[in-house]
Amino acid sequence: MTDPAIDRSSSIRTPTAGPAPSINGPRVFGVRPGKPVLQRIPVTGKSPIEISVEGLPDGIKYDPSNRTLAGRAPNVEGSFPITVTAINDAGSTSVVIDMKVGELLALTPPMGWNNYNAFRLRISDQLIREQAEALVATGLADHGYVFMNIDDGWQGTRNADGVMQGNARFPDMKALGEHIHALGLKFGIYSSPGPRTCGLFEGSLNHERLDAETYASWGVDYVKYDWCTYEGIAATLAGEKFAELLPTHANRIRQIISERIPLIEDRTRPRPAAQAAQIKQLTEELDAILAALPADQRQAIERELLIRPYRLFGEALRNLDRDIVYSLCQYGMGNPGEWAPSVGGHLWRTTRDITPQWPAIRSIIDRQAGLERHAGPGRWNDPDMLEVGNGNLTPDEMHMQMTAWSMLAAPLLIGTNLTKMDALTLSVLTNVEVIAINQDPLGRQATIAHKQGDIHFWTRPLADGATAVAVFNRGDQPAEVVLRLSDLRIPAPASVRDVWRHVDLGSLSDISVIVGPHGAELYKVLPVDARNDRDPQR
Ligand code: GAL
Repeated sequence: MTDPAIDRSSSIRTPTAGPAPSINGPRVFGVRPGKPVLQRIPVTGKSPIEISVEGLPDGIKYDPSNRTLAGRAPNVEGSFPITVTAINDAGSTSVVIDMKVGELLALTPPMGWNNYNAFRLRISDQLIREQAEALVATGLADHGYVFMNIDDGWQGTRNADGVMQGNARFPDMKALGEHIHALGLKFGIYSSPGPRTCGLFEGSLNHERLDAETYASWGVDYVKYDWCTYEGIAATLAGEKFAELLPTHANRIRQIISERIPLIEDRTRPRPAAQAAQIKQLTEELDAILAALPADQRQAIERELLIRPYRLFGEALRNLDRDIVYSLCQYGMGNPGEWAPSVGGHLWRTTRDITPQWPAIRSIIDRQAGLERHAGPGRWNDPDMLEVGNGNLTPDEMHMQMTAWSMLAAPLLIGTNLTKMDALTLSVLTNVEVIAINQDPLGRQATIAHKQGDIHFWTRPLADGATAVAVFNRGDQPAEVVLRLSDLRIPAPASVRDVWRHVDLGSLSDISVIVGPHGAELYKVLPVDARNDRDPQR
C-alpha cells in the first residue's frame, strides 16, 4: 500500500476546478432502436446547478434526480442532437450531445469502476452499493465514470429451471441493479463461457441464452465474458475435428487431449517441473501427429474454437430487448481485434492481467503498438483496468497509466477502493481535459510517432483537428526532453496546451520539458489555422 509518510498531494497536476459548471463525459453515445436508455449527463461545478435538456426525441425524458436521460430510444436509426445547458451562480455552459440511434454501442470507450483490482473475489452486495455511492459522492460519476461493474464472485447456484442466482453475499441481483440505476449509473456483470469462471464460480456453459436473458431481467448494461475453463472444452472440440481428419490417429489424439486438459487446468503455481515436462511431451507428440495436416487448416480449427463461445454469447446478447456492452476477456489470444466486432464485441482484452507495478504497466503499453488498426467507435482494445490508486505506484506512474490509457482510447475502468482514495488518486482520475482525449469522438487510438532511447512520443488525431501528443519516459531517471513538432510530422509552429495542467503554452515549434522516471506528459497541439469554434474542454 501507499506509504502514508509521503505527502503525495504535492504531485497533483490537475488544477482545482472552479465553481462554474462544466458538462463532462462523451459528446456522443449510441443506442439501438427502440431499446431502453439510461444515460447520465455528467456535470460538475458549484451546487445548485440547473440542468436543462432540449431536442430530446419522444420517449426520452431528462430525470434531474439522477441526471439521466431515461426512456426508450426512437425506432428509427439516425442522429439526435441534444442540447444540454448547465447554469449556476458562477456561470453557464451549453453543449450538444449526439445520440446516435443505430446498431453501435460504446461509441467512446466505456468508463466506470470494477471491483477486481482492489477486492478480487471478496465482494458483496453491500460493498458494491458502498462503492457505487462513492462513485457518485466523489464526483467520479459526474466526470463520466458510469459503469458499476461487478467482476467474478457474485455467482451462486442455478435454480431448478437453470436460472442463475447470486450467492449468499448477493441475495437480490435485480434489487442491486435497481439501486445502481437509481444512482444514475449502469450495471455491469461478469461470467465465463466454461463450466466454471476463473474464480471457480458457476460459468455459463450450455446456459448462454438463459444467462443473457437473466442478466437483462436484472437490468444489466455490460457483460465481461472471460475464458477460464473453456480451454478444456475448446481442446476437446478441436481434438474431435483433428480425429475426424486423421482417422488412423484418432484414438491417440483423443487420449493426448484428455490427459493434457487436467494438467493445463491445474493452477498450482509455480507449475511443478514434472507436470510441465509432461505437458511438453504430450504437446510435442500432438504436434507431430498434427504435422500431417496443412498448417493453415489446424490454425483455422483452433481459431474458430477461440471465437465460438464469444459468438454464441454475442448472439444471445444481440437478441435481447436491452443494450448490453459486451467485453471479451480472453487475454488477446487469436488477435481478437480481427474478429471480436463481428461477434458483437465492443471491447476485448489484449493482454493478461494487469498488476499495480511499473513493469506490468510498461509491458502492457508496449503490447498495444500495432493494435490501433482495430480500434474505433464501438470497438476498443482493452489493455485491462486502471491501477491508479493501487499498490506502490509512484505519482509519475499513476499519471503515466492515465495518460497512456487516454491516448490508447482504452476503457477507463477504475480499479481502486473509492472509499479510501487519496487526493492525488482522485486528481489523476478526474482531469476533464485528459478524459476528453480518451473520450474523443473520432475514436482513433494513438500510435508511436517517434522514439529517442527511453523516450517515446505517441500521437493521436482528435475530432477538432488537433493532435494529442504524449511523451513517455520509460527510463528510471528523470529526462530532459525536447519535443520537436517536426519530428512528429506536425506543422509548426502550432498552439500547444499542457493537458494535465490546463495551461496554454503558446505558439511553439519545440517543447522542452523534464519528464519524471516512468512519467508522462500530455499536450494538445492545434495547427494555428484550426482554432475556431472550440468547445472549451475539447
Ligand atoms: C481473469 C480476468 C480478470 C478477472 C478474473 C476474475 O481471467 O482477466 O480481469 O476478471 O479473471 O476471476
